[in-house]
Amino acid sequence: MSKLTNECIRVASRPGGIPTADNFRKEVEPVPDLQPGQILVQNQWLSIEPAMRGWLADANNYASVPEGDVMRSLCVGTVVESRADDYSKGDRLMGWFGWQHYAVVAPTAVVQNITTSDLPPSIYLGVLGLNGITAATALDKLGQPQAGETVVVSTAAGGVGSCVGQLAKALGCRTVGLTSTTEKAEACKNQFAYDHVINYKTDDMAAALKSACPDGVDVYFDNTSGHISDAVMPQLAIGARVIVCGTASVTSWNPPPMGPRIERILLTRRARMQGFLLFDHMDTYPAYVRQLEGMVRAGTLTYREHITDGLESAMGAIQEVYQGKNLGKRLIRL
Ligand SMILES: NC(=O)c1ccc[n+]([C@@H]2O[C@H](COP(=O)([O-])OP(=O)(O)OC[C@H]3O[C@@H](n4cnc5c(N)ncnc54)[C@H](OP(=O)(O)O)[C@@H]3O)[C@@H](O)[C@H]2O)c1
Repeated sequence: MSKLTNECIRVASRPGGIPTADNFRKEVEPVPDLQPGQILVQNQWLSIEPAMRGWLADANNYASVPEGDVMRSLCVGTVVESRADDYSKGDRLMGWFGWQHYAVVAPTAVVQNITTSDLPPSIYLGVLGLNGITAATALDKLGQPQAGETVVVSTAAGGVGSCVGQLAKALGCRTVGLTSTTEKAEACKNQFAYDHVINYKTDDMAAALKSACPDGVDVYFDNTSGHISDAVMPQLAIGARVIVCGTASVTSWNPPPMGPRIERILLTRRARMQGFLLFDHMDTYPAYVRQLEGMVRAGTLTYREHITDGLESAMGAIQEVYQGKNLGKRLIRL
């Protein structure tokens, strides 16, 4: 057995809805010895994703984490020991290493070898990771925005949304962000290139959308569903594209809530609505990373990180994201 001790967060129970700290337990255990073909990674950064709610649910889901397992998470860490070809001590990696200090994994857990030294490693979990690459891939492949078109984005100040706004603006679009607080609205305008920002909690959504989108909505990048989408859909322009990327506002999945009938809107506007999952597009992931790296270096793509310190702070962080407490990418620093 290795002399190293690991602290990890395991799934203690399945949440009924949004996961809380009570659904996890912390454990201290020895790090197992490395077997041939494995690598030992010491994590420095853990990621918090709204999608973790889905990974913890056992219904209507595409990838549940079994009870008792270390919580699944993308992480950035450094190789401490390697018995695998192609990996050496000191390599910086982004991959599926879980909510823990040390991970013994096979190379299949690695998503990316971080070879840059001029960029902070944490951004490979945010603007150059799941969030930014989701924004770029979904906007490009499903949204296909053209210069002069209007792009509306929900959770506009978040990890995905903050990136969508800047990418759409760089393509010459009119950008409209939807968010929940004055502080987030200011970040959307001043940092994330949104031309207009609507506070969905305090503004009259229908009137504010009409004024911000006089020619209708050409691309709706939907991260929430629910009453926010109910307000956007009637304002779709002819030929609109609706990207269904997230459903943050849906509290019950079983049974799922039924909203207004939108088929007539889709028909009359000849609109297309399509679900998106980044994991279907891993073949183009490296190319989008390179594109966004260039933009970050050039200063044309900015980001915010919402960081807390210590493994334990991960346990309540999913719930906090569903309370909208994060401004930017939610991360845990070890
Ligand atoms: N399909 C994919 O492959 C893929 C990949 C990555 C992420 N996503 C999805 O993209 C969305 C954004 O992810 P992210 O990691 O960047 O998170 P995020 O936007 O940084 O954080 C989630 C945000 O959701 C909003 N929210 C939470 N509860 C809400 C509610 N009840 N009603 C309305 N809004 C609510 C809050 O923003 P406001 O304060 O602005 O409301 C909160 O800050 C999520 O839905 C996520 O599941 C999908």
